This record gives sequence, structure tokens and C-alpha cells, in this order.
Amino acid sequence: PRTAAVIPAAGRGVRLGPGAPKALRALNGTPMLVHAVRALAASRAVSLVVVVAPADGAAEVKSLLDAHALPDRTDFLVVPGGDSRQESVRLGLDALPPDYDIVLVHDAARPLVPVDTVDAVIQAVRDGARAVVPALPLADTVKEVEPARVSGDPEPVLATPERARLRAVQTPQGFDRATLVHAHETVTDNVTDDASMVEQLGGPVVVVPGHEEAFKVTRPLDLVLAEAVLARRRL
Ligand code: C5P
Repeated sequence: PRTAAVIPAAGRGVRLGPGAPKALRALNGTPMLVHAVRALAASRAVSLVVVVAPADGAAEVKSLLDAHALPDRTDFLVVPGGDSRQESVRLGLDALPPDYDIVLVHDAARPLVPVDTVDAVIQAVRDGARAVVPALPLADTVKEVEPARVSGDPEPVLATPERARLRAVQTPQGFDRATLVHAHETVTDNVTDDASMVEQLGGPVVVVPGHEEAFKVTRPLDLVLAEAVLARRRL
């Protein structure tokens, strides 16, 4: 079965502070998106990468990819994205040619995911799972709160889920294509990851081990960490 990767990269990245769309910010001189595309194309199983660009930036993203070295054995497509991550992923799915049975969805904001994690997700789908997410145990205890109406106000704690049973979910998430397409056609709630759409439809979702370096670049400190990881890799 052939595997394609969809990379939603149409977010503004407001939490990172002012500047270019997050995916276009540089890490050690190379745009985050280019790192993310290379990370997915590093898997020999991935033969197509669909990048979902900011709606007004598809041409810019196309020339960006043309300007950077990418593996010859991988095909690349750039399509314009939407107002939400979900809509962006759906637009990426719409652009997939028919002959791909396995689809990965990977955040451009996770530029440093190791190829072993990508391959482990693909292998789990090949082995029969319809939806696979890489995830890690949590270092922090997590509390459910009643969100304050005014930001900064104290928030009442409602519950403390048992930490040992919690996982922090990463990407790439891997799917049997028909399962993911059906989920995107059916679930309209605003969700933050693709697997939760499959869960809402009662479909089985499994977790495989994620990796520390697959962390999401969200806040300014994450840029410092990402550049440190890149520096360590060059050693
Ligand atoms: O905002 P968040 O960090 O959850 O975004 C995750 C990924 O979804 C990012 O790679 C971002 O570029 C992408 N996204 C998108 N279209 C949107 C919003 C976010 O492709 N409208």
C-alpha cells in the first residue's frame, strides 16, 4: 500500500509572537516547514507529501520547496489551506491521487520528528490499525479546571486524571485513508487532532511510542529548544 503525508502548515502561529506564519519561520536558517517536509520524506515508505499552505501563500510555499533540496523519490504538492486546522487537513485530503491507501497527517509545527517515529506509525497502519497516534507519557500532573472568564483569575480545579493513564499526543498520525476521509466528512465539531474525529465515530485508535524530538514548536522557548536539538544532531 502506498503512503502519502499531508502537512497542514496554514496556521498563523499567534502564540509564537508576531512575524511570518509559523511554518515559514526559520530554524537554523531553514524554514520550519522545510524541516518538517524533510522529516516525512526521510521515510522510504512516503512517496507523496501534500503541503497545505496559508490560503494567500501557496505560491510562496511552492517556490520555497523548489529552493530547498528534497529527496527525488518523493512527489510534492502544495494546496491552499483553510480557516481551521481541520479544514486545512480536509483540503489536503481532497488533493490526494487515488492510489494512496495510507495517509499520515503531520503538523508543520513538529519539524524534528525522527524518521523512526514516522516509520513506526506507518508500520502500525500496515499491520492493520485504522488510526495510529504517537504519544508520550506526561511529566506534569494534569488538572481539569473551570476556565476563568477573565484570564489570570484563579481557576477552580474539577478533577485530576490519573497521570499514568494519560498520554501527550504528537504527529504524524497515521490512518487507513477511507477511515480518515469518512471522519472528515462526518465530524463537524472543532477538534485539535485527526484521531479524535475517528474516536468520535467509535473507531479504534491506537497509540505507539512517540519521541521527545517530535515536540510541537508553539511558544518562543520552543524555538530555542528546536535549534539546540539541531545543533546536537550535527555533532
Ligand atoms: O495551532 P496548532 O499549533 O495546533 O496548529 C497545528 C498545525 O496546524 C500547524 O502546523 C498549523 O500550521 C496547522 N494549521 C493549518 N490551518 C489552520 C490552522 C492551523 O494548517 N487554519
